[in-house]
Amino acid sequence: MPTFQTVRGMRDLLPGEAEALNNVIARTRETARLYGYREVITPVVESYELLSAKSGEEIRQRMFTFKDLGDRMVALRPEFTASIARLATTALRNEPKPLRVFSVGSVYRYDEPQRGRYREFWQANFELIGSSTPEADVEILLLTKKVMNSIGLRNFSFKVGHVGVIRGILSQEGIDEKIQNLVLQRMDKKEYSEAFKLIEQDKCRKVLRGLLELKGDTPFETAEKIQQYVSGYEMAQAAASNLIAILHLATVSGCPIKTVETAFARGLEYYTGVIFEVNVPELDVALGGGGRYDKLIEVFGGEPTPAVGVAHGLDRIVLALQAQKISPLTQRGKTTMVIPVKPELRAEALKLAQMLRESGISVEFEVMGRKMAKALEDADKRKVDYAVIVGEQELKEGMVVVRDLAKREQTTVEISKLTEKLRA
Ligand code: HAM
Repeated sequence: MPTFQTVRGMRDLLPGEAEALNNVIARTRETARLYGYREVITPVVESYELLSAKSGEEIRQRMFTFKDLGDRMVALRPEFTASIARLATTALRNEPKPLRVFSVGSVYRYDEPQRGRYREFWQANFELIGSSTPEADVEILLLTKKVMNSIGLRNFSFKVGHVGVIRGILSQEGIDEKIQNLVLQRMDKKEYSEAFKLIEQDKCRKVLRGLLELKGDTPFETAEKIQQYVSGYEMAQAAASNLIAILHLATVSGCPIKTVETAFARGLEYYTGVIFEVNVPELDVALGGGGRYDKLIEVFGGEPTPAVGVAHGLDRIVLALQAQKISPLTQRGKTTMVIPVKPELRAEALKLAQMLRESGISVEFEVMGRKMAKALEDADKRKVDYAVIVGEQELKEGMVVVRDLAKREQTTVEISKLTEKLRA
């Protein structure tokens, strides 16, 4: 048999790596609790139709799609938003609004593997459903900031845009939604000349070109320039005003918004309003992204329901922690190894190990049947903190020997005081 490797783009998370990821997950869960988001667990496999409905060409082409044995066209979820929108039109349809939903898990996209880009990766996802106010958008920005802060990341910043500006111009120029989607997709990839080729009207091309050149010294200045530039395009102007209102609330609440980009578009097709990504200088890929999608729930057969959300890319957050040399928050508690001096004492030693675990102490048992010297050597190698040596004589007196492996000191301790000693 050959030795097996993981499938290209898939990774094993080894001890340490898995702990680092789980610690980040714990912070996102804590943030969900702080902001009132309740967790739901949705399936990894969903119908292809659901997942592809509004995700956009880019994601559609990268889905892991297959027919199940019942001949259903299904796919591995490439994100959570479609599943949550499905819930909002079914099981959670009658929940009072706003509805705040949190999810965390693995998602799948057939991306070209490279640093920070995998085919299986983890997202923490927050959706705020039922409000169209700027404060709802800002809540999503703020909880993203909270996640980054609680993990200890430094120098992260937000890039913000508004798809309503470009869509507003294109709509008013009579360009249908399908073409709009293609234009935005090209723009997302910074393929501007390809994007312009899709637009026949000279005037519209010119307006868009001019828009892309706008730049102010601050995010506010850029947004204000956009607002002035699009006068005459009502939808685009409303979008620019909405962006300014969001910037205002975000700035006063301490959200580090670095840039407003006029040509910023995101790969996903369902966005209708503000969009954003969060970055750190050490990585050239985003740590998270999101935005407003006011039409998706309606497309899925629900009442017209505004919504906004974000997904944090947890694998990339772990990479950013490494790049910033921040400890991955994997505080492994103290560990203890219980070693019987001879095989006849195994049962007593096992009982003792069990008692310690019952009181919350992390215990490994010597299961290799090694002699004492070898067992201690092994415990030392694996950086165990204490060895509890179970010997016949001590046991008769209700005692065991506790060896501090780092200090190389040992003492005899009453079994009744053992938990206390190991906790100290
Ligand atoms: P997204 O921008 O496609 O948005 O993904 C969110 C985050 O997932 C990215 O910012 C990135 O950190 C991470 N990510 C994406 N692709 C990969 C990959 N191949 N490898 C590792 N990490 C990756 C969404 O998924 C939307 N559902 C967000 C949202 C929620 N919008 C509204 N609600």
